Amino acid sequence: MGEIDPAFIQSIEHRPKLTVTDPGEIPVIDLSALHSGAVDLLVADIGKACEEWGFFKVINHGVPLEVVRRIEAAMKEFFDQSIDEKRKVKRDEAKPMGYHDSEHTKNVRDWKEVLDIAVEDPLVISASPDPQDQELTKYYNQWPEYPPEFRKILKEYAGEIEKLAFKLLELISLSLGLAGDRLIEFFQGQTSFIRLNHYPPCPWPELALGVGRHKDAGALTVLFQDGVGGLEVKRKADGEWVGVKPIPNAYIINVGDIIQVWSNDKYESVEHRVVANSEKERFSIPFFLFPAHHVNVKPLEELTNEENPPKFKEYNWGKFMATRNRSDFKKQAVENIQI
Ligand code: SIN
Ligand code: FE2
Repeated sequence: MGEIDPAFIQSIEHRPKLTVTDPGEIPVIDLSALHSGAVDLLVADIGKACEEWGFFKVINHGVPLEVVRRIEAAMKEFFDQSIDEKRKVKRDEAKPMGYHDSEHTKNVRDWKEVLDIAVEDPLVISASPDPQDQELTKYYNQWPEYPPEFRKILKEYAGEIEKLAFKLLELISLSLGLAGDRLIEFFQGQTSFIRLNHYPPCPWPELALGVGRHKDAGALTVLFQDGVGGLEVKRKADGEWVGVKPIPNAYIINVGDIIQVWSNDKYESVEHRVVANSEKERFSIPFFLFPAHHVNVKPLEELTNEENPPKFKEYNWGKFMATRNRSDFKKQAVENIQI
């Protein structure tokens, strides 16, 4: 079996230990209520889940199963190729979307490989509103040649997942006491992307992680995962890591940093990670709902007042995206200035 590459080794305090496996507490939201007229109740449940967990599962979400099966099959075919084939669509400085087999979280290598595809093609992640600068910061997707239907299947999936994400955004807006369409304006020219994750079996699951602990930087994440499991969420109540038990075909939704800022801390972006598995490979498909690059993120005026003054300083999303070391930027832009 050889030795583990030290790049993958987590420091002792961040190595996985025996965790609490989803004691059935992570809220499950049934979106069929959208069609039965019980929307107020649904909105209240979502608000509660966002406050208490920052995470929830959705069932009866409307994404057709056959569309999910097609993207799952296509991603397996893609990752099943040789490393040389996959590297034909390799991500680099000039092409931020594409294949990558050495992703790092907090400077430790994750035990996985990914393929990123932006929803808007080209993707503009300029830190500048100047149209000339934006011309220089347009990034095109890199579409794999194999499997041959990949592009069509991905686009079909993107269309469906986007519908679900915007529906959830509307419900979250309502749960904050805002109009349902209050947040939608920030997504004209969105920088959202879909990540296809493959976690190969790992002989050292006690040393490495599939993904190290982190919070999601965007507005909302809509995650599809297979039946293997491994996602863990830091429970707000006591800081314990809780394993999220997969429900077949359900989505896992989590609040990202932007909603935390917009809501002025009412809804928190919660830390999560993925543990490695020595026997089974795992696939997951997060959709990261990101606003347009020109959006300045700050607490919404309607949600702040004299008793509840803004807790975050404004930061520009394009600048954040364009920053090489985003965690440092985030620290400066968000965490350190939290008052
Ligand atoms: C992530 O949080 O980046 C991935 C989540 C997952 O694969 O379950
Ligand atoms: Fe994440």
